[in-house]
Amino acid sequence: MSLLSVYQPITAEAVRLALSTSLLGRTLRVLDETPSTNQEAFVLAQGGASHGTAVVADRQTAGRGRHGRQWHSPPGKNLYCSVILRPAIEPDAVAHWLAWVPLLCGVAVARAIQGLAACSSTLKWPNDVLIGDRKAAGILCESGGAGGTAPFVVAGIGINVNTPLDLFPDDLRGSATSLAIEGGRPYDRVVLLASVLSELEIRCDAYLAGHVADLRDEYRLRSSTIGQRVRVELGQGQTVVGVANAVNDDGSLCLIAAGAGGSHAADAVLDIRAGDVVHLRRDESQ
Ligand code: BTN
Repeated sequence: MSLLSVYQPITAEAVRLALSTSLLGRTLRVLDETPSTNQEAFVLAQGGASHGTAVVADRQTAGRGRHGRQWHSPPGKNLYCSVILRPAIEPDAVAHWLAWVPLLCGVAVARAIQGLAACSSTLKWPNDVLIGDRKAAGILCESGGAGGTAPFVVAGIGINVNTPLDLFPDDLRGSATSLAIEGGRPYDRVVLLASVLSELEIRCDAYLAGHVADLRDEYRLRSSTIGQRVRVELGQGQTVVGVANAVNDDGSLCLIAAGAGGSHAADAVLDIRAGDVVHLRRDESQ
């Protein structure tokens, strides 16, 4: 076995030694293999697991992505982590909180990557973490317990850490990247995990303390979508093309529709709550 920590398996002991959080990751389950850490964490949350409980796996056999996609989850290379977020929050503030968690997670992951790998990453709305125009990390937030006394979000974070290009499946090779590809060296997954949890805890606490305007500014500065011409795939074959203008207070994307050829009048202002954003090049019509 290698003595270098970048090649070591993730262990609960190593994570605990690296953690600097108060709550996030303090209750921790580290697995060799699971279908999906989100699935695992969701069951724990339904059983009453506390705020900050985290599940980490070395490999997922059915890793879940947004919009029903799969998340490529080979063993020994990457970070697959799900954190249960269920802070004490007033019932009428829950919807706003649920809308903001995905954005807070995106910023936390981007900052952790920058701190470790010195790669400057950006966020494609809502929370794809890009290095250049390739995706290095994805986040899937799934909520539960609605209407009950303790609603929760499972924030599932997948970061391509040490995957070499030839280990990505053919359909991802043109659009995905990893920290090792970008930085030219392997990175320590435990250090990255501890940093993600710390950055996320800071942002959750800031949100709960009422600093939403600051968090929105921070998100805007990291966004590569705002100001871009985009196509948004809304599902069921519906798309809209326009310029992404801002992220609204409720976390939705404010889009000025381009109109021509689309289903919306030119300059219509649309608030996109869910969809798949594609950044268009200047010369791309749609
Ligand atoms: C995306 O499609 O961009 C979101 C990908 C989220 C993947 C992570 S890996 C850890 C957690 N468990 C899952 O099954 N999915 C998330």
